[in-house]
Amino acid sequence: MRTSSDFDAHYGTKDPWGLKHASRRDRALGEIIGPHVDGHSVLELGCGEGHLTATIFAKARSVTGIDISSVAVSRAQALGLPHAHFEVSDFLTVGLRGYDVIAAVECLYYLSAAEQDAFLQRLAREHDGIFILSAPIIGANEHRTYYTHSGIVQMLARHGFSVLEWRNLNAYWKAGIGGAAAAAMTRLPFADALVPYLPEALVYQRCYVSRPAKSRPA
Ligand SMILES: C[S@@+](CC[C@H](N)C(=O)[O-])C[C@H]1O[C@@H](n2cnc3c(N)ncnc32)[C@H](O)[C@@H]1O
Repeated sequence: MRTSSDFDAHYGTKDPWGLKHASRRDRALGEIIGPHVDGHSVLELGCGEGHLTATIFAKARSVTGIDISSVAVSRAQALGLPHAHFEVSDFLTVGLRGYDVIAAVECLYYLSAAEQDAFLQRLAREHDGIFILSAPIIGANEHRTYYTHSGIVQMLARHGFSVLEWRNLNAYWKAGIGGAAAAAMTRLPFADALVPYLPEALVYQRCYVSRPAKSRPA
């Protein structure tokens, strides 16, 4: 796992991942996540500077945003969002009880496989509501190991969650000629309509909405 100092250093620059400019991702996230969070209490894991808290989670009844980086959390607090409060905390220790929805958008993969497993075991014990997971589904690259579609579905199932729905967020421009063509096509004005139909091999990020299956492992 990367440490709080690693992430604080990364936040030496504001918006280090350029997330405020990821408008296609955010539109697609809003479409799939919005109906599940509007009017509900949300725990937003890895909230960073509060960009999604202020946009995708704006209509939640309440949001608790947590992040391991105190630099990011101070910036989120400075937004002064009336429906949200922010805390410095770690996925591995934060309390998971009492929320309608828990969301992990682009953050769970910073944990090792064993840490993700420990987190999901605790999630299964402590959370009865919706769990949202959004991440790259490109397998591994030079930076880290992400996920595949079947890997995510099986990982959630192992911990007693079944996927209700999923949505492609954007095209993967490094996926050979097909990926570059798909990415170029999705820059066209009408392209939002095409993204949901891209096959897994041409997709970069996908968002999954899950909930506890009726019979969960003990
Ligand atoms: C790529 S950013 C995503 C920010 C936001 N969720 C979004 O998608 O716009 C990942 C965030 O996860 C946070 N993070 C990583 N590991 C963490 C951990 N173990 N506990 C809490 N936050 C963590 C990082 O500090 C960073 O702010």
